[in-house]
Amino acid sequence: MAISKAMIVFPLLCFLFSTISAFSQPNTLLCNQTEKHALLSFKRALYDPAHRLSSWSAQEDCCEWNGVYCHNITGRVIKLDLINLGSSNLSLGGKVSPALLQLEFLNYLDLSFNDFGGTPIPNFLGSMQTLTSLNLFYASFGGLIPPQLGNLSNLHSLGLGGYSSYESQLYVENLGWISHLSSLECLLMLEVDLHREVHWLESTSMLSSLSELYLIECKLDNMSPSLGYVNFTSLTALDLARNHFNHEIPNWLFNLSTSLLDLDLSHNSLKGHIPSTILELRYLNDLDLSYNQLTGQIPEHLGQLKHLELLSLGDNSFDGPIPSSLGNLSSLISLYLCGNRLNGTLPSSLGLLSNLLILYIGNNSLADTISEVHFHRLSKLKYLYLSSTSLILKVKSNWVPPFQLEYLSMSSCQMGPNFPTWLQTQASLQDLDISNSGIVDKAPTWFWKWASHLEHIDLSDNQISGDLSGVWLNNTSIYLNSNCFTGLSPALSPNVIVLNMANNSFSGPISHFLCQKLNGRSKLEALDLSNNDLSGELPLCWKSWQSLTHVNLGNNNFSGKIPESIGSLFSLKALHLQNNGLSGSIPSSLQDCTSLGLLDLSGNKLLGNIPNWIGELTDLKALCLRSNKFIGEIPSQICQLSSLTVLDVSDNELSGIIPRCLNNFSLMATRDTPDDLFTDLEYSSYELEGLVLVTVGRELEYKGILKYVRMVDLSSNNLSGSIPTELSQLFGLRFLNLSRNHLMGRIPEKIGRVTSLLSLDLSTNHLSGEIPQSLADLTFLNRLNLSYNQFRGRIPLSTQLQSFDAFSYIGNAQLCGAPLTKNCTEDDESQGRDTIDENEEGSEMRWFYISMGLGFIVGFWGVCGTLIFKKNWRYAYFQFLYDVRDWVYVAVAIRLNWFHDNLRRLLGKQKY
Ligand SMILES: *[C@@H]1O[C@H](CO)[C@@H](O)[C@H](O)[C@H]1NC(C)=O
Ligand SMILES: *[C@@H]1O[C@H](CO)[C@@H](O)[C@H](O)[C@H]1NC(C)=O
Ligand SMILES: *[C@@H]1O[C@H](CO)[C@@H](O)[C@H](O)[C@H]1NC(C)=O
Ligand SMILES: *[C@@H]1O[C@H](CO)[C@@H](O)[C@H](O)[C@H]1NC(C)=O
Ligand SMILES: *[C@@H]1O[C@H](CO)[C@@H](O)[C@H](O)[C@H]1NC(C)=O
Ligand SMILES: *[C@@H]1O[C@H](CO)[C@@H](O)[C@H](O)[C@H]1NC(C)=O
Ligand SMILES: *[C@@H]1O[C@H](CO)[C@@H](O)[C@H](O)[C@H]1NC(C)=O
Ligand SMILES: *[C@@H]1O[C@H](CO)[C@@H](O)[C@H](O)[C@H]1NC(C)=O
Repeated sequence: MAISKAMIVFPLLCFLFSTISAFSQPNTLLCNQTEKHALLSFKRALYDPAHRLSSWSAQEDCCEWNGVYCHNITGRVIKLDLINLGSSNLSLGGKVSPALLQLEFLNYLDLSFNDFGGTPIPNFLGSMQTLTSLNLFYASFGGLIPPQLGNLSNLHSLGLGGYSSYESQLYVENLGWISHLSSLECLLMLEVDLHREVHWLESTSMLSSLSELYLIECKLDNMSPSLGYVNFTSLTALDLARNHFNHEIPNWLFNLSTSLLDLDLSHNSLKGHIPSTILELRYLNDLDLSYNQLTGQIPEHLGQLKHLELLSLGDNSFDGPIPSSLGNLSSLISLYLCGNRLNGTLPSSLGLLSNLLILYIGNNSLADTISEVHFHRLSKLKYLYLSSTSLILKVKSNWVPPFQLEYLSMSSCQMGPNFPTWLQTQASLQDLDISNSGIVDKAPTWFWKWASHLEHIDLSDNQISGDLSGVWLNNTSIYLNSNCFTGLSPALSPNVIVLNMANNSFSGPISHFLCQKLNGRSKLEALDLSNNDLSGELPLCWKSWQSLTHVNLGNNNFSGKIPESIGSLFSLKALHLQNNGLSGSIPSSLQDCTSLGLLDLSGNKLLGNIPNWIGELTDLKALCLRSNKFIGEIPSQICQLSSLTVLDVSDNELSGIIPRCLNNFSLMATRDTPDDLFTDLEYSSYELEGLVLVTVGRELEYKGILKYVRMVDLSSNNLSGSIPTELSQLFGLRFLNLSRNHLMGRIPEKIGRVTSLLSLDLSTNHLSGEIPQSLADLTFLNRLNLSYNQFRGRIPLSTQLQSFDAFSYIGNAQLCGAPLTKNCTEDDESQGRDTIDENEEGSEMRWFYISMGLGFIVGFWGVCGTLIFKKNWRYAYFQFLYDVRDWVYVAVAIRLNWFHDNLRRLLGKQKY
């Protein structure tokens, strides 16, 4: 896990100040020879690939060595500071030699941010009685923490844990030894597994000198003292973030009334309200309760905690208004209330917080018109996050804000219809997100010049117009999508990495744009020009854009051939050319794009065969060739695409048989969804690739949830032969469409094993025989079409199969039973039953009852669906879209958490 060093600057503080040592360096004293030799053998046992200890040479005085500090009078080594504050390739590793024991006066040892590869903390450290400070955090030590450390009775600060892998995580059986560290003032444990120790609270509270306690991500699950009370006497900082507490905030905390300055209980699952006893903590500087499940209102009396500098209540379930008393917190620097259900207005008193640096109140249900007064005294504000609220910003057009922002995010607030002119006053802005903010205006002439120093711009989802011809774009990421921009000739600086201009009013050819003279080597990775009115042939100038990984030119009017030069984009991961008028065949140069994960050429006039070399693009996850004029057979090489999850070659002129090897699509053969599937197809670290697919009879856009789609669509071709039984091994398949071909024979008997199937369409073929009983096992099936074949016999009984409309079965003259109106006669039965004996009839009934149970949920929803939508067939879409919404929600939530997390890590503790 990549935790930035900025995040732990705060814990470090107590380590810096708790060391009292007298040293001077350089000095004229010569170091003790015994100690020099001890240090040299310590060095020999270490692995130092970056030669950080190159100054440790036998010729030099050891008091002059890097990281070695001697006493200014005795010349004895008292401090060894080998913390690695550089990049990880500067890490020391190897073995910590017991030669250190010869440093009889060592009181400070710091090996943090190195990499000891999961090896245990050496026991001998417990014998170094002179140590007052031992810092081993983020050093990748692993295994049991030696209880011998309990002998270090002079220790003032102890830091352990971090960076070890899951298998070699540090752990304790019990913490009894820690109560012997009678001088301990500061204890930091990160990612140490403490869950076996239920008395952690008693053990640590026996430390009468303890003033700072950090037990972060230590798998603790209970904060209630087993003895009924907790006796911390001088605790000033308590950080129990990222544990597993899932109860209410315990009362003993509030007995720490006069001492506690910092309290961090974030990233747990705490429940309940904020108790009013929190006022007892009257000197509190920092209160972080974010990322819990706290409910109720934010208490008005929080405004009495006059010393608060950080108040973080984000990502909980608080509702009600933001108390106006927060405006009394005159020392407040950071206020995070985002990600709750706060409603009502934004108190104008917040505008009095003259020390405020960070104001994060987005992702709430706030609805209010905010104006100059809300920002009246916020002259120090740098980070403002108001996105995803219903706030309306109404300020005078000549407003000069008191602040100079670096980060502004007001997505989906209303600040239009006029373009916000006050932005012009913000000279330090790095990040601007005013997407979906109701702006219906021309981008002012000053804007692009002003914006050239920004790093990120997001103006998407407005109705901003303006001609981009001659504009110079110089931002790392630029989102102009879904606006009314025209004039596709902006000059791109080589700094641009993401350029999204989809869904605007750009028209005409793109050769000016793509063949522009670049002032250096372009870094452009993602280019999205989809959904415009662009036309003409695709230019040949792809060689100048070799960093491109994502190209989307879909839904335009491009014509002519796909140029061979597109194959020079050897980093390409996703190529969308769908819904244009492109002709000719798939260029063979595309086989050089070996990283290609997604290829969408659907809706063009492409000809020829599906090339055999397609099987060499083994990273391919989605291949869409729908609605072209491809002929010939589906090459069996396609089966080499073992990562394929979406195969759509429908609506072409393909003939021959369906390859028998489709069970080689190993990702479709599993029900698991690897988390990282498609994430390597993201650009700009969160922009997900999307595809428009016809999965349930109409086009739906899949974005974010694309990784859940498993689809094979070979419909509307001239395929013949039978349905390969191998298809029933694609256990993860959700959508199968083989309709409108010339397929013959039976439905594979074991089709019921593909239990993930949501939609099955085999209509308009020449399939025959009975409908296999196992079809009744498909309890998730929302859509079934077997119409216009030559099936016969009784439709198997199950709540599921009878819940479909008769249209699912019509056009099969010899099929009978519900939901068809044709009753089964003795004749039909005997015809249909040619292989079923009495026993199997019994099993048929059993199946009926079992599938009634399994089908209950689906059946229930079916009833609700019909009640709500009246028309039965719509219910399938209803439930399906419901799932889609959940998936989308999950994806968005993950993205937001990541975003907040990272920002907070960087900014939250910044004042230190
Ligand atoms: C040694 O260091 C201590 C503490 O920094 C200081 O008080 C003392 O004056 C120094 N002695 C000499 C001789 O430099
Ligand atoms: C050097 O250190 C050794 C062992 O720590 C000690 O025995 C010796 O007296 C020291 N020498 C001096 C000159 O302080
Ligand atoms: C260490 O990594 C950084 C980037 O992370 C790189 O710039 C530097 O050259 C590397 N140094 C060595 C010694 O490998
Ligand atoms: C240190 O601790 C261990 C185990 O806790 C104990 O056996 C030993 O006697 C203690 N004393 C020293 C000097 O190591
Ligand atoms: C709490 O600790 C203090 C100081 O160590 C001690 O005087 C007091 O008796 C303790 N209280 C309890 C209830 O153990
Ligand atoms: C805020 O939400 C609560 C509960 O959801 C509701 O009772 C209250 O009327 C809402 N207040 C406003 C101003 O919308
Ligand atoms: C263009 O962007 C670069 C890097 O982001 C920046 O250093 C430079 O100042 C920008 N140029 C202008 C004219 O804003
Ligand atoms: C089908 O059978 C049911 C009862 O089993 C009967 O009520 C119905 O009239 C029959 N329908 C036809 C078309 O024979």
